[in-house]
Amino acid sequence: MHASLSFDQAPPISVPYRFFLVAPWFGVMAGILLAWSGSDAFVSRWTPEALALTHLIALGFMLQAMCGALFQFIPVAVGGNVWRPKLVANTVQPLLLLATLLLVAGFLFSRPGLLSAAVPFFLLALGGFVMVVALALWRTPATGMTLWAMRMAIGGLAVTVLLGSLLAEALAYGLAVPIVELTNVHLVWGLGGWALMLLAGVSYHVVPMFQLTKPYPLWFTRWFGPLLLLLLLAWSLRLFLDLSRWSMLVTLPLLAILSVYAGLTLWLQYTRRRKIHDATSLYFRVAMVSMLILAISGAAFVLWPALGADPRSVVWLGILAFAGVFVSAISGMMYKIVPFLNWLHLQRLGGPISAVPNMKKMIPAEAMTGQLRLHVLAVVLLLAAVWQPGLTRLAGLTLAASCAWLGWNLVGSVRRYQGFRDQIRAAA
Ligand code: HEM
Repeated sequence: MHASLSFDQAPPISVPYRFFLVAPWFGVMAGILLAWSGSDAFVSRWTPEALALTHLIALGFMLQAMCGALFQFIPVAVGGNVWRPKLVANTVQPLLLLATLLLVAGFLFSRPGLLSAAVPFFLLALGGFVMVVALALWRTPATGMTLWAMRMAIGGLAVTVLLGSLLAEALAYGLAVPIVELTNVHLVWGLGGWALMLLAGVSYHVVPMFQLTKPYPLWFTRWFGPLLLLLLLAWSLRLFLDLSRWSMLVTLPLLAILSVYAGLTLWLQYTRRRKIHDATSLYFRVAMVSMLILAISGAAFVLWPALGADPRSVVWLGILAFAGVFVSAISGMMYKIVPFLNWLHLQRLGGPISAVPNMKKMIPAEAMTGQLRLHVLAVVLLLAAVWQPGLTRLAGLTLAASCAWLGWNLVGSVRRYQGFRDQIRAAA
């Protein structure tokens, strides 16, 4: 199952875990914020609540989990040597946490000073992280499209953070920049150039391995990343040229390649020989179905401008992207990675192999599938709340509950690791 992984350089278990364990609680905060703000939050993408929620998920949930996963994935899957992972993680993670809370507070309380205060912390945390990771990704002798996708993704993160910082300073100091266009460019680099690029690159490697599917076809892995990058660059031209009449020529191909990635992943799952229905596979299915719905509804909004003109249409797309695609895919990945890391690190303690419990004992299967069902309910309620604002509070509470359950499952798994570790040490 783990034939193409090498664990010699794996970082200490605390490195990925310090990121994984905080991520779900940002989802809880997002849910509580939504329940507290009620029906106003989804009126348009520009409400203080919508901007705060966006970054609670983008930076608190997604970025924390993705940084933790990269610390683990780079040495293990692409043989990259990350410099002093423990030191870097111990510095980056708290800085990122602080920066995220400042930014979110700045949005929520409409205090541009707080947005600006967050910027140096982001630049320090993510500048350091990007440098260390980029060095590891460039120096590795490995080859392949997963590696290239990861290199492009880390570049995408750098662009997102720089544009986000510029936006924050522009709002704080009233700089003369085109805020709306800059935000539109920042968000496609954040969601496309960073998050989707990384998800796709990691999928090439882990979907066949964890979900026992055939590999992605070569034509797809060769073209998806470069084409996505090209379309993001074309989209960014709107900062310099008036492309309003041509934007369809970029938006529709962008949505088309999303559908190809999602459709292909679902097809690979459907045609695999052994049908496993564990939480990871199901979560990936939810993520890919959400991506297909996002692509279809996005295309409908472009082709029928009267539909797309409703300010709630972008909120609908945002919920599909954040809660439907990325929170689902990341939760599914954590349910695979965490039990495996427990098992791996217990095995390395040097006790008798029979003392190391099976991976299935790390998080009970029913707890994972129960949590997944609650998450799906949360996504459905969030989407419904866009058009039926009366449902907003219920949607927020359901999101908070499902993220708390995810966090609890991960904490339980770490507790089990500690228990087994102490038993093995005592026996040795
Ligand atoms: C790394 C992942 C990130 C993602 C995925 C992301 C995503 C987004 C999205 C989707 C929006 C548009 C929100 C809306 O239309 O409701 C946005 C706006 C914005 N983001 Fe980010 N963001 C990220 C990081 C950052 C960072 C690090 C900063 C600050 C340093 C930042 C600052 C901003 C600002 C100031 C706005 C514009 C708010 C406005 O125009 O009123 N973002 N971001």
